[in-house]
Amino acid sequence: MKTILKKINFITVMKSNNTGSGKDPYKRFSKWYDSIFEPLNSGLRAIGMKMFPPQAGMKVLDIGCGTGAHLKLYQNAGCEVYGVDASPSMFGQAKEKLGEEANLHFGDASNMPYPDNQFDLITSSTVLHEMAAAVRSNVLKEAKRVLKKDGHILLIDFHSGPLKPLKGWFYKIIITIAEISAGRKHFKNYRQFMRSGGLDALIEKHGLIIEQRKILSGGNMVIYILQKNKEDENEK
Ligand SMILES: C[S@@+](CC[C@H](N)C(=O)[O-])C[C@H]1O[C@@H](n2cnc3c(N)ncnc32)[C@H](O)[C@@H]1O
Repeated sequence: MKTILKKINFITVMKSNNTGSGKDPYKRFSKWYDSIFEPLNSGLRAIGMKMFPPQAGMKVLDIGCGTGAHLKLYQNAGCEVYGVDASPSMFGQAKEKLGEEANLHFGDASNMPYPDNQFDLITSSTVLHEMAAAVRSNVLKEAKRVLKKDGHILLIDFHSGPLKPLKGWFYKIIITIAEISAGRKHFKNYRQFMRSGGLDALIEKHGLIIEQRKILSGGNMVIYILQKNKEDENEK
């Protein structure tokens, strides 16, 4: 019975994943994902960890955990780590990297299996931009639900604000090539994310409180440390 339920969950996730195509968009390059992107992402992760240093014993959830590179840093810092991802191949990489101690869930982050008020820190790095608008919004709603009342959210993603001449434009060309290469659906979602105001618009929509913000890579990337509004009636 358990196996059948797991299979149904797998099929549902694949049909409703961020591509909507029923395919795993990361299948072909999950094995090389870290070699390609870690040289760029590791610096952003390090800055995020400086902005909100992890403490041993903290319960940390990474939404769209990918290969587990982000969670590995928190695991090394002694945190209790949880991750959710909807790509079977990326999920497989994360399992290999983080081992049995990590609590990993294969599925759509807009419907997570955790009870309310669970996590001290929820992170999501270069994930939200690739989701369809409705999924993205539901994911933030879910994040608020499972976050402890005094918990924090750390978001890293593309910034939709003005770019610095030369450096910003140079990075923008590289990012645009990478986003086009990720496929039509991915690029469409990225464009919608940027045009609708990126993380700033989402943060405002969900009434999150900005504790810190850092704009990087010539204006192309942004890191936010957020808290949920304790008065917010929608936090449940
Ligand atoms: C660009 S990768 C980033 C991976 C990782 N966060 C990192 O920093 O390396 C985006 C990840 O988000 C996952 N993802 C996209 N939509 C998702 C959803 N609705 N639920 C869970 N994971 C999702 C993808 O499967 C992929 O692994």
